[in-house]
Amino acid sequence: MYFKYLALVSLVILYSLMFIGGYLQASGQGLSCPEWPLCPSGILPSAEYLTEWIHRLIAAATGVLIVATAVGSWKVKGSEMKIRITGTLAGILAVSQIMLGAIVIDTKLHAVIVAIHNGAGILLFAMALLTTLFAFRLARATIQTKV
Ligand code: HEM
Repeated sequence: MYFKYLALVSLVILYSLMFIGGYLQASGQGLSCPEWPLCPSGILPSAEYLTEWIHRLIAAATGVLIVATAVGSWKVKGSEMKIRITGTLAGILAVSQIMLGAIVIDTKLHAVIVAIHNGAGILLFAMALLTTLFAFRLARATIQTKV
């Protein structure tokens, strides 16, 4: 049952992304890379916008992992409605966050958009956490019914 580990890895990567996002903001590097989706140097990083580049790279990885977890929440054996709801909401929020990230750049860090980006990130974390907890509970229940 690998689904619970997929959910856990997604959660840990998401946490690191939010941590880097907070650093990006507090260090005033939010607009160091003014273009989207790629920075002026293309897919390769550059010292001037390394933090921003890392935030985007990890956002892409997080998006893939959270969407994979959302799909898994429907397919996993014994899947219940609550894990499907939290998994799907997390998937929708992850994709929305990536689009919001583009708007954050496009509006040159408009305070309201940055606040929404932060708030949606917290909601996303809550959904990913619940999905992980449900996934571990589901795995335990499946083992118990086998015994
Ligand atoms: C799942 C995807 C994402 C999550 C969960 C996420 C989360 C966060 C968080 C928590 C912050 C800190 C905000 C604050 O402290 O108020 C942040 C900052 C930021 N994020 Fe994201 N982010 C994601 C994707 C992206 C993408 C794709 C971009 C751009 C292409 C982006 C651009 C930014 C920028 C520029 C800041 C700094 C804002 C500032 O300096 O005021 N984010 N992000």
